[in-house]
Amino acid sequence: MSYRINPWMHPENPTDTPKALAQWTTLLETYQQLGITVHLIDPVEGLPDMVYAANGGFVVDGIAYSAKFRHSERGPEADHYANWFADYGFASVDATEVNEGEGDFLPVGEIILAAHGFRSDQGSHKELETVFGKEVVSLKLVRPDFYHLDTALAVLDDETISYLPSAFDQQSQKVLADLYPDAIIAEEKDAAWLGLNLFSNGAQVVMATQATGLANSIRARGFEVFRVDMSELLLGGGGVKCCTLELRP
Ligand code: ARG
Repeated sequence: MSYRINPWMHPENPTDTPKALAQWTTLLETYQQLGITVHLIDPVEGLPDMVYAANGGFVVDGIAYSAKFRHSERGPEADHYANWFADYGFASVDATEVNEGEGDFLPVGEIILAAHGFRSDQGSHKELETVFGKEVVSLKLVRPDFYHLDTALAVLDDETISYLPSAFDQQSQKVLADLYPDAIIAEEKDAAWLGLNLFSNGAQVVMATQATGLANSIRARGFEVFRVDMSELLLGGGGVKCCTLELRP
């Protein structure tokens, strides 16, 4: 990494590429062992953050809403993802508002939770409503180390979420508490491993090895947990979920 756009990134202490690739491959194999179909996108020279596929767009009901990145370093990724969506037959909508895709937008049942504060502009939340015809709940992130929604909040199934309250402003904390009184409240030490940056298919959860407390709480709710070590990818500020973009037909 030659640039720094979040507090996790330290260009003076760069990621070990073979190690990052090995961890990413384990994630891929974990998905495949769970019977999940995984499509890949080709990497592009000079765009190292492209590995964090969650930011490449937002796909619901077969419609792909394109990303429009906050930082110029990642700007060119948007077209590569948009071309990929078109090649795979998704109906594409070009975003006019700044947004970082599924990094900041998470569907929970019929509603979409959407964040602003660091990366996506709040205007993109309105745009989401128009594009997908769904209710969008806007949340404000306040901690620079939890700059994307998917670093601070995990969707486990259509009703169950887990989150780190201190990552949100007071009003958003109240909205979340009202909407999800049974949410699993994450602890700082698990969130610090990006434990909330997880993938769930509603029954099976893939998450960071080191977030042991959170894993126990998730298991206690009846989910099966599969752990992967994403420590090298963490140096870029991403974990399991950041490396995953869900394609909802
Ligand atoms: N280095 C990337 C960035 O700062 C990490 C993105 C992580 N992705 C995510 N969905 N949280 O943009």
